[in-house]
Amino acid sequence: MKTLGVAVIGTGAWGKNHARVYKELASTELVAICDVNGERARAIADQFGVKAYTSSTRMLKNEKIEAVSVCTWSTNLAKETLKVLKAGRHVLVEKPMATNMKQAKELLETAEKNDLHLTVGFLMRFIPGLQHIRGAVENKKIGELVCATARRVSQWPERIGDVGVVKDTAIHDIDVMRYIFNENPITVYAKTGSMRHIKFEDYAQIMLTYEGGKSAFIESNWLTPYKTRLLTVTGSDAIMRLDYMTQELWIEEPKENLQPRYLWQEPLKLELQHFANCIWKKEKPLVTGADGLKALQIAEAALRSSAKNRAIKLK
Ligand SMILES: NC(=O)c1ccc[n+]([C@@H]2O[C@H](COP(=O)([O-])OP(=O)(O)OC[C@H]3O[C@@H](n4cnc5c(N)ncnc54)[C@H](O)[C@@H]3O)[C@@H](O)[C@H]2O)c1
Repeated sequence: MKTLGVAVIGTGAWGKNHARVYKELASTELVAICDVNGERARAIADQFGVKAYTSSTRMLKNEKIEAVSVCTWSTNLAKETLKVLKAGRHVLVEKPMATNMKQAKELLETAEKNDLHLTVGFLMRFIPGLQHIRGAVENKKIGELVCATARRVSQWPERIGDVGVVKDTAIHDIDVMRYIFNENPITVYAKTGSMRHIKFEDYAQIMLTYEGGKSAFIESNWLTPYKTRLLTVTGSDAIMRLDYMTQELWIEEPKENLQPRYLWQEPLKLELQHFANCIWKKEKPLVTGADGLKALQIAEAALRSSAKNRAIKLK
């Protein structure tokens, strides 16, 4: 089997997992890694037996690289992704993809112009339980969809200092809501604030409303001493609950409770395998660049809503 030559830019806490998974997958060959921190770049490259770079421009001269994961600090994601796309390579860029919509739009245009895959690291979509929920909503197994609630709270992550909790954390649930509702919200109302973080918000309560009276509520913060990642979806006939960490799924119906069992799978492995498959088969990925742009638009509207203390209509 021919393998896809891949590289990772930014090998910090998360990017090193991309490197590991690419090394583990049979369909990909990790060719090189790049990190501006030379010591870190060398350590990760040695661990996986590949070449280390501190400049992505130099790394992209390597012709064996066909696709790249961009996992830098959030504020450098767009700049590095643009460089990779201009060098003619497919990209998986971590969320939030860019720090503003103008940057994100430029990435979409460049990928389209160069006929390249551009996908965004919305990892939750690859969890089998979430795909089950999406199917159940689509096939009306829970009756009519009424509302959904997401809770993603934990302690302050010391390493994040360049975006707030909305663009870093709530953005996962903004994408999840778009995925399960299979439509875009029409308004967003949010309250955000900062308890510990000096520059950015560290808590956010976000409400999204949809056509026909449906709604979604997202709670995110970096203030809770324990980590919770939960989703509850309420339909007219049943309720579904997913714990993203254990990947357990519960379905509560009027006469019985069910617990469909899915073997725990590493979401990142599923995501990167899918990325490689889509490139080989020239298929549209589950998460498109347009999904990234839309999630960013909603995140920005949430921040604006909180600043202006009013609901924001989304176009
Ligand atoms: N999808 C997910 O579930 C998920 C989970 C965690 C993190 N992330 C995302 O991954 C990204 C990285 O997060 P992290 O926790 O690993 O951060 P981190 O600070 O631990 O690592 C970032 C690394 O990028 C390097 N870097 C920064 N700019 C660079 C550049 N221009 N070129 C090369 N290297 C550069 C830094 O030296 C650092 O080693 C963030 O965008 C974050 O939002 C996504």
